[in-house]
Amino acid sequence: MPDTELVRLEGVRRRYRPDRAPVLDGVSFVLPRGAYVAIIGESGVGKSTLLNVIAGLEPVDEGRVLVAGTDLAGLGDAALADFRRRSLGFVFQAFHVLPYLSVADNVALPLALLGVAAGERATRVAAMLAVLGLAGAESRSPKELSGGELQRVAIARALVHRPALILADEPTGNLDPATAAQVQRALAGAVRAHGGGGLLITHSAAAAATADRIYRFDGRSLQPVTTD
Ligand SMILES: Nc1ncnc2c1ncn2[C@@H]1O[C@H](COP(=O)(O)OP(=O)(O)O)[C@@H](O)[C@H]1O
Ligand SMILES: [Mg+2]
Repeated sequence: MPDTELVRLEGVRRRYRPDRAPVLDGVSFVLPRGAYVAIIGESGVGKSTLLNVIAGLEPVDEGRVLVAGTDLAGLGDAALADFRRRSLGFVFQAFHVLPYLSVADNVALPLALLGVAAGERATRVAAMLAVLGLAGAESRSPKELSGGELQRVAIARALVHRPALILADEPTGNLDPATAAQVQRALAGAVRAHGGGGLLITHSAAAAATADRIYRFDGRSLQPVTTD
């Protein structure tokens, strides 16, 4: 796998039930390093499954998943957990911000897990919050934040440890259109500021337009969508 590639899928097949067609049916795809790519597609075609397979959260039945040159199938549980902690940032539709921790403590979690010292954590949390338009929000409680603010906290937490790959699964699906547009811009800006690669799953054309490229997924293949 060339070093210019961040993710490579080769003929990936994933079947949940033997009596049903596979959800992922021989999918091949390459995400170049530094690219922010949106994947759109109908509900139920397997977009979340695709992302979970790339995150090593689900195994594949056939084919290969390589992230930064590493074949995920070759990793044991501990190595896979370590890969996720270091190299991945995941943003979900539900924010999963912990309500009893401050904004700063939520965002600092990935750094704490990696053993980053407290002073360095505080510096990086402040910088990340500023990128997402949340400068000075460190001591606030998630309970007093809006949905858009909570999702930006979740994005800050997904990026703070500078993962090689950011995966976002319908991150604005729970937000009203105006807030969603603001969060999509914040996510795109943060992924670009960070310089890693990103995959955004969405069914919104407006959200997809914040990415560098758009592909449509139908369970089998990813076809480029031309926007002009
Ligand atoms: N853990 C699971 N067990 C069984 N079927 C599943 C599981 N996860 C997803 N599916 C099925 O796989 C298909 C694709 O699901 P999903 O990847 O969530 O699609 P999307 O994100 O595009 O809406 C759906 O038919 C769904 O019901
Ligand atoms: Mg989904």
